[in-house]
Amino acid sequence: MKSTMSETKQKKLSMIPYLWSYKWHYLLGVIVLLLVDMSSLYIPQYTGDIIDGLTKGTFGFEGVKPILLKILLAGLAMMLGRFGWRFFIIGASRGIEYKMRNDLFQHLETLSARFYNSHKTGDLMAHFTNDLQAIRMAVGMAVITTFDAVVMTVMVLVKMIVYVDLKLTLLAFIPLTLVAFGCYYYGIEQKKRQTRRQEAFSYLSDKAQESLAGIRVLKAFVQEEADFKSFEDASKNNMEKNLAVAKLQAVFGALLDMVTGLSLLLTLVFGGKMVLNGQVSIGQFVAFNSYIGMLVWPMIACGDCVNTFSQAAAAFHRVAAIFREVPDIVDADTSLQADCELHLEGDIRLNDLTFTYPDGELPVLKNINLHIRPGEMLGILGRTGSGKSSLADLLLRVYDCEKGMLLLDGKPIDEIPLCILHRDMAYVPQDNFLFSDTLEENIAFGLEERIQEHPELRDSIHQAARDACIHDNIMDFPENYLTLVGERGVTLSGGQKQRSSIARALLKDSAVLILDDSLSAVDTDTEEQILENLMRLRKGKTTIVIAHRISTLQQADHIAVLTEGELTEYGTHDELVALGGFYAHINEKQQLEQELQEE
Ligand SMILES: Nc1ncnc2c1ncn2[C@@H]1O[C@H](COP(=O)(O)OP(=O)(O)OP(=O)(O)O)[C@@H](O)[C@H]1O
Ligand SMILES: [Mg+2]
Repeated sequence: MKSTMSETKQKKLSMIPYLWSYKWHYLLGVIVLLLVDMSSLYIPQYTGDIIDGLTKGTFGFEGVKPILLKILLAGLAMMLGRFGWRFFIIGASRGIEYKMRNDLFQHLETLSARFYNSHKTGDLMAHFTNDLQAIRMAVGMAVITTFDAVVMTVMVLVKMIVYVDLKLTLLAFIPLTLVAFGCYYYGIEQKKRQTRRQEAFSYLSDKAQESLAGIRVLKAFVQEEADFKSFEDASKNNMEKNLAVAKLQAVFGALLDMVTGLSLLLTLVFGGKMVLNGQVSIGQFVAFNSYIGMLVWPMIACGDCVNTFSQAAAAFHRVAAIFREVPDIVDADTSLQADCELHLEGDIRLNDLTFTYPDGELPVLKNINLHIRPGEMLGILGRTGSGKSSLADLLLRVYDCEKGMLLLDGKPIDEIPLCILHRDMAYVPQDNFLFSDTLEENIAFGLEERIQEHPELRDSIHQAARDACIHDNIMDFPENYLTLVGERGVTLSGGQKQRSSIARALLKDSAVLILDDSLSAVDTDTEEQILENLMRLRKGKTTIVIAHRISTLQQADHIAVLTEGELTEYGTHDELVALGGFYAHINEKQQLEQELQEE
């Protein structure tokens, strides 16, 4: 298989560009925070001054007034500042989360089928919710808290030394140094636990997503109880992993309390002695105790920050792993701007085409040689699993085959710019996926223009619906074309879904149209009508019809029969009937069935 890995650059996720784009927010936020911290620092000192002034009798109530005014002003500055830094920093973190979420989604949309074969929707959803939230917390509150804790600690210590006493400060601070070591080991262990917690959440959301998406099958097979059991297991695992994080957090929190308590105890004992000896004043002693109290918060914050950062680091690794995924299907020369002006003629040639799925072992298509001329209608018949949809996948470049095995207009398919390929190929997939939107939007899905801006498109939408024989059905719905379709089209019948998908593909009016088993759920009269319309509309354009019913295929210019990935029969309806092989056998069987039905 052709490897395109080297041609597509791996994306490396880095936080720097995101942080840099909010540099002014961070700078202003930090400045405001500094002002808040400085203001708060003066309050214990002013309180100490008042106590000393009053106890020593150096000033009366008149002397207290200006100090009270200063305390009031400091309080006011703190109040405004706290709003200010939240505004800047929380604003930045929300902005970063928004940008990362968009980038992640945009990247996911470039990834190919191979990626989605091995990644589950619920797991990917968890990246969008939990992981990005964890990163947001780290670049928001945690940044602020870390900065604040460091600045506060330094400033408080300086104040304690300058305003009170160096020895007493050192004594009170010794137990607090233990916290730094604690934080380090706590961070390492907590990151492991956070990773396990996030994986458990991913698994849980995947479990819920899959069960709810398959709820109809689940109920039909009365598997609610068994499914609930496995959900409960996943949920329990999620709870346990969360508890593991919380337990460590609780132990660390208790140790922090103990250390700060120890600091306070040392201050009381030794500080008290110093007051008695007259080395420090009562006012200084009271202020010192307030400062110790102010140191408690940075210590607790230290624990919280380590927690948030380790959670974010684990989340970052998970998101970065997705960013490292490269799309397999890319334009052959990514350095050149693709020329999308050209149009496909619709000439398709299969040269000894052999294809094995990237994660498959045996080839699903083997040595197929086939030429579909522009304007031709090719029918494909084959037992289930014979490789019909795989061939459609290759034509649409959902997967790549070896170079030169598949030519479009004489060129290897990977040399045709993807913009042309996606524009000039229309496809009705076997599973008829519809979006939970209006029928009108679903049919107009392949158009470049949006109907809201081009209401004149409605006429062609209605015409495509008429050609696909769904118009009358739609007009019977309460809101006609504005009827909302349930998730994946659940509110429509199988046949209605198929015909809406056909209308969507017909509206594109592209050079090549592939219908994969698209008439299997419609009755024979409707089938006849749709085929008649197809013949008329697709004159001069290439059409490939994959089907199990001879009635769908017999009018095609040529019919190819696939047997276990090999092309075993090829010709017109009459030629194949005359050949007496698989096609003739199926034809005979289906004719008999029809006769029996008519009797
Ligand atoms: N993504 C995939 N990875 C690996 N193998 C796959 C993948 N998709 C299909 N296959 C295998 O390829 C073979 C051909 O499948 P394909 O879907 O092309 O059959 P089909 O002819 O369209 O059948 P049906 O008539 O039931 O739609 C099958 O054996 C299937 O198991
Ligand atoms: Mg198929």
